[in-house]
Amino acid sequence: MPRAALRFAGRNGLVTGAGSGLGREVARGLAAEGARLVLFDRDPAGLEETAAACPGSVMMVGDVARGADMARAAAMLSPITLLVTAAGIIGPTTPLPEVEEEAWDRLFAINVKGTWLALKHVVPLMEEAGGGAIVTFASGAGLVGNPVFPAYAASKGAVVLMTRSLVTGHTAQGIRANTVCPGPIETPMLRQSFAAAGNRAVEREEYTRARNPMGRFGTPAEVAAAVLFLLSDEASYINGVALPVDGGRLA
Ligand SMILES: NC(=O)c1ccc[n+]([C@@H]2O[C@H](COP(=O)([O-])OP(=O)(O)OC[C@H]3O[C@@H](n4cnc5c(N)ncnc54)[C@H](O)[C@@H]3O)[C@@H](O)[C@H]2O)c1
Repeated sequence: MPRAALRFAGRNGLVTGAGSGLGREVARGLAAEGARLVLFDRDPAGLEETAAACPGSVMMVGDVARGADMARAAAMLSPITLLVTAAGIIGPTTPLPEVEEEAWDRLFAINVKGTWLALKHVVPLMEEAGGGAIVTFASGAGLVGNPVFPAYAASKGAVVLMTRSLVTGHTAQGIRANTVCPGPIETPMLRQSFAAAGNRAVEREEYTRARNPMGRFGTPAEVAAAVLFLLSDEASYINGVALPVDGGRLA
């Protein structure tokens, strides 16, 4: 790709959940377009694999739910002007009254507090640097109620409004923030969500595919393309959007 086409040349970014799936694909795409990255995940082997495809990147093994870890990650490259928060889990797949308190707390610690901690430690650095662009990860399940993953849906709904609230308070400092809301995308998490259905896993997979207008699952590359666009200067007037990337599932 000619140098002029590199949308992120000279920029530093932090990607959480970079050790697998969508975070890895976004990291690859950003690195291919010139960004230097802090790759953050709790999975060291996954991080190594991603780092091999991201020249100049640095890695940190840590937990997004721990403020000290996020503070260290945010300080590894300076200035960070790109942030992607892809770390997340599905958590309990039971009706709300049956969710165990501990499982609820862990889900919200990763999906909601983990996103907030990344914002907490990166946004002030972006302000010092004169601005930046952020993409948080919610889900189609963060936009409408979900009977299969109700606790997950609640956590992703929180991510949507956390991001929109950030926009209402920090746009004047040069920061843009948007959320992607993927539908079913072919990653280890999607497979895990089917496996959670036990002996009805195949049925759940077929149902999920059949109710999508496109009749298929999305690819990580299709989500990464949307994330890179939202992070780029091409999206300079797009702010506070919760963008479904779902083949029309919520249409
Ligand atoms: N795949 C889908 O169908 C889908 C749909 C909607 C939303 N999403 C969201 O997209 C994001 C990425 O999902 P994915 O499909 O790539 O999943 P994935 O399981 O492939 O990757 C998630 C990554 O997050 C990391 N992670 C989890 N908890 C962590 C923690 N406490 N600290 C640090 N790292 C942690 C995992 O190690 C893993 O590398 C998630 O937020 C997910 O909720 C995915």
